[in-house]
Amino acid sequence: MDNLAGIILAAGEGIRMKSRTPKVLHRLCGKELIRYPVELLGRLGVDRIVVVVSPANQKAIKELLGDTVEYAVQTTKSGTAGAVEAAASLVQGKAQQVLVIGGDSPLVSDASVRSLIDGHLGAAHQMSILSGIVQDGQGLGRIDRHHGSQRDVLGIVEDAQDTARDDQPIEVNSGVYCFQADWLWENLGQVQASGAQERYLTNLAAIAAEQQVSVAAQPSGDPIEVRGINNRVELARLEDVERQRIRESWMLEGVTISDPSSVMIDSAVVIGQDTVILPNTMLLGNTVIGSGCEVGPGSVIKDSTVGDNCRVTSSALEEAVMEAGANIGPFSHLRPGAYLESDVHIGNFVEVKESRFAAGSVMGHFGYVGDASIGANVNMGAGTVTCNYDGKNKHRSVVEKDAFIGCDTMLVAPVTVGAGAVTGAGAVVTKDVPPARLAVGVPARILDR
Ligand code: UD1
Ligand code: MG
Repeated sequence: MDNLAGIILAAGEGIRMKSRTPKVLHRLCGKELIRYPVELLGRLGVDRIVVVVSPANQKAIKELLGDTVEYAVQTTKSGTAGAVEAAASLVQGKAQQVLVIGGDSPLVSDASVRSLIDGHLGAAHQMSILSGIVQDGQGLGRIDRHHGSQRDVLGIVEDAQDTARDDQPIEVNSGVYCFQADWLWENLGQVQASGAQERYLTNLAAIAAEQQVSVAAQPSGDPIEVRGINNRVELARLEDVERQRIRESWMLEGVTISDPSSVMIDSAVVIGQDTVILPNTMLLGNTVIGSGCEVGPGSVIKDSTVGDNCRVTSSALEEAVMEAGANIGPFSHLRPGAYLESDVHIGNFVEVKESRFAAGSVMGHFGYVGDASIGANVNMGAGTVTCNYDGKNKHRSVVEKDAFIGCDTMLVAPVTVGAGAVTGAGAVVTKDVPPARLAVGVPARILDR
């Protein structure tokens, strides 16, 4: 038998999000909410993870998480108790302890859950609740203790049913629990419907207290982690906290961030030492930035790789690669498939798509390069355009090494400009230019040089 199983509750309707997207697929710092508890339980070494989904959201959640977890479908709106029941057939008899966590609580920390489990096992509790002391417990269940003492837990009182709240700080339920498995499965069926016909898992605390079996609530040191996300205000609030943590952790790793609050760094991003991030910059998705770079101000980099000692000034990159020493900007755009080899220089108002610039080539001023292969040490003059689309199909342009493309050249693809060839200003190149030759005019004629 496995020691510890994890059940992640994600079958709620998420009505308060007012969204067509399931709540747990909304993102916090670029990562879907549901991934946070899945990764947390993975890091804790939980043997078996069951995600409880609904008929409506199961397809989307399964697409995201694949077979990294098991799934149970909660077919009725039976509340958080019903959700745990839906997972029973996958977990009952297979684990001695059961950890339950909401899919909407991304800031719960490893340390708090570890210490909850340790306390639970150490004292042999039947039910342990991760709690937190907060000033504003709106929407959260309150831990009810005997005569307000620090000791015996009497139950959890949901906000809607709580008549005893004032503006004092209160101890609230995080929605993370550890149960002794046999006790959980024996007693879950006793939970009665509360408001809105839902059966609250939280009622198990009062059931345990009545039975005088051991139930405990353990406050976390950092109350922010007990907050779940039920609406978009809470999403923004928690994201703000997480973004600050991410920035601070990179600063402590040797990254300079000027005006940190204007910088957004997603959770999967990696940044090298001595890189400087200037204001109003967003590093998103699976982006990797090397060391010694200068990024920003005002750059947006998504799912891209930037090597060491690069500069990205006021430019946008998506699914692009820059090798070491390359630089771009201000105001240029690398679209998917753009690849700049080492020391390539792209200046202002250049758009590059599905094209490779080999080492040392330059394009300093406005233009468009799509579906092209640019050789090493090529100079692409101001206003160069690859005419890659004939209205039906895309065609490739090839500019071989050491070529010099004159200002305002139109490369009408498919076309190849040979190594060391030159095009005159304003040339409209409709036929291949042999190596070392000169092409001028409209359409371009090949001349000797
Ligand atoms: C719940 C707790 C509350 C706690 C808070 C912490 C209950 C009754 N209340 O309130 O004490 O302070 O979390 O964030 O549990 N879900 C299902 N099936 C359902 C209903 C919900 O799987 O039928 C899932 C939701 O997708 C969500 C989680 O359970 O991930 C919690 O449900 P939610 O409706 O967000 O409960 P809260 O009102 O936040
Ligand atoms: Mg919630």
